[in-house]
Amino acid sequence: MAIFSDNPELQNQWHAVATDVEVTNGVIGRQLLGQKLVLYKDASGTVNVAPDRCPHREAPLSAGEVKDGALVCCYHGWSFGEAGKCISIPSADPGFPIPKSGHLPCYKSEVRYGLVWVCLGEPASEIPEIPQDTDSKFRRINNPVDHWRVSATRMTDNFLDIAHFPWVHTGTFGNSQRLAVEKIDLEDLPNGFHGYVYDVVAENPPSAGLSSGQSAGDVSRTMTTGFCLPFAVRSTIKYDTGLEHIILLVSTPMDDLNSYFTFVIWRNDDFSVSSEDTVLFDRSIGEEDRVMLEKIPGVLPFEHGALANSQSDKPSTAWRLKLTQLLKDK
Ligand code: FES
Ligand SMILES: [Fe+2]
Repeated sequence: MAIFSDNPELQNQWHAVATDVEVTNGVIGRQLLGQKLVLYKDASGTVNVAPDRCPHREAPLSAGEVKDGALVCCYHGWSFGEAGKCISIPSADPGFPIPKSGHLPCYKSEVRYGLVWVCLGEPASEIPEIPQDTDSKFRRINNPVDHWRVSATRMTDNFLDIAHFPWVHTGTFGNSQRLAVEKIDLEDLPNGFHGYVYDVVAENPPSAGLSSGQSAGDVSRTMTTGFCLPFAVRSTIKYDTGLEHIILLVSTPMDDLNSYFTFVIWRNDDFSVSSEDTVLFDRSIGEEDRVMLEKIPGVLPFEHGALANSQSDKPSTAWRLKLTQLLKDK
C-alpha cells in the first residue's frame, strides 16, 4: 500500500491520540493521519480536539496555554472555550462581534479507557468495546502514549503474530526452545474482535512474576488474540490460576511511517501489586517490538503476493484483507 494515511475511510474511524491525563496537564499538540491537532480541556472538563491552527493568523494553538478553562493563543491572545467557541479577542472593543470564522471547527472526540479518541470525519464504527472496563473485579492500568517510527500497518501485523516471540522477545517471555507455531483457526471473538485462541508455554523469569502472579519457571497460558479494524489488537492472557490479563494494543497513524503506541491493561488480580510494577514487564515486551519494527522501513505491503506467508501469518493475512476491503470501500 503506497499511501494509506490519506484514505478517507480512515478519517471515519476512531483513533486514540493521547491519554486523558496528558490533556489534564494543559494543552498538547498531536498529529493524526497527517493532520496537526490541538487538544485542550475546557471549563466543563470536556476534552476538545481541533486543528492546530489559530483562525486569526494560523499560529499553532498547541504553543498556547489553558487559562481558566480556555485555550489562549500565544500570538494575540484570542481564547477558545467549550466546543472551540472563540470567547475573547483582547485587541477588540468589548462590543466587537466575534467573526463566525473565529471559532474552532472541533472534531468528534471521546474519552474512553483513559484515552482520548478522535474521529476526523463521521464515525463509521464504534470505539473497540472492552466490557471489563466496568467490571469491578478488574482494574484498568493506562500507559503513556509513545511515538514509534514505524507504520501502524507494521505494528498491527506484529501484534497479531506469534512466530516472532522466540526471536524478538528473548529478554522477556520468548522461549527459544519452542519455535513452531501450531495450527491457528480464526474465529469471531466477543465484542467485534476477530482472531484466534492459542495455548502457549511462556518463559516466566523473575521480572515477569508481578505480571503473571506466579514465581519463576515456565507458565502455561491461553492467549485469545484478535483485531478490531482498523488498528486495535486485544490479547487476553488467561492463567491456570484464574488470573486474566487483557491487553489492548493501540496503534495510531500520525502519518504513513510514524505512529502513536499505547496499551491499556485490565486485570482481575487482587490489586496488591502497584499498577506501575504490574506493567513493567509488558513495557519491556513493547520495547522489544519497537526496536525490531523500527528496523523495517516503509508501509507493510498490502498487494496480493507482495509478501511470503507461512501458516502462522493467518491472523495478519485476515486483518490485511479486511483492512484492504475497508479502505477500498471509499
Ligand atoms: S494568531 Fe492566534 S490570536 Fe492571532
Ligand atoms: Fe511482539
